[in-house]
Amino acid sequence: MGRVLVGMLIGIVLVPATALMYLKYGRPPVAAADAPFPLEKFVADVPLKARIEFEQVTKPPVKSDEDTFVAGAHIYAQECAVCHGYHGQASRFGMKMYPTATPLWEKHGKGDVVGVSDDPLGETYWKVENGIRLSGMPGFKGILTPAQMWQVSMLLANANKPLPPEAVQILRGEAPAAGVQGEAAAAALKLPAGYKVEVSGSAK
Ligand code: HEC
Repeated sequence: MGRVLVGMLIGIVLVPATALMYLKYGRPPVAAADAPFPLEKFVADVPLKARIEFEQVTKPPVKSDEDTFVAGAHIYAQECAVCHGYHGQASRFGMKMYPTATPLWEKHGKGDVVGVSDDPLGETYWKVENGIRLSGMPGFKGILTPAQMWQVSMLLANANKPLPPEAVQILRGEAPAAGVQGEAAAAALKLPAGYKVEVSGSAK
């Protein structure tokens, strides 16, 4: 009986108390530049991958053509480049975030992958729509229309392929970003009739 009580005391009081002491006095990593917790990446990645596999839509409602890439490039320059960098120019603070904002126009792997061009399109769309919790990646549902989120996702899925020069120019931040409000902006983004752009970002 005595042993059982000691066991319960340890389980109910000592374990949570030790955990609390660690959080308060153990200086666990809280700064962006700190090293990760043991198993942190594993604990974050496994449920994210499982959720995306379960929910991702695999049939995109947009074509992979020039109009899509140009529209996607406008959206990218306006909404994403600040963290993920322009084509040929890294973000000033994206690599100082924790986790870092993946550079989406840099070659990696064996050199034939650019950004997330090796990820399934539906996975990228899911991330753009829903964001990634406990990271700086925002969910764009309600900010961009589904068509716009597909356009930018389709662009990223083709980042390792030759893109139309107009799209590359926009991705380099060389062309002025389209206006930010209303039907004129939707026309500039080459969206189908009836779309309005309702983002409140600032034009470059
Ligand atoms: C405020 C900064 C910020 C903005 C703006 C932002 N992102 Fe992200 N994004 C992040 C961060 C940080 C991550 C890394 C998340 C992680 O590793 O879990 C990320 C991750 C991603 C990923 C997954 C990358 C990978 O390696 O699997 C994609 C795809 C992505 N973002 C696309 C976009 C698109 C498209 C936009 C614009 C519509 C955008 N992001 C806007 C910060 C941002």
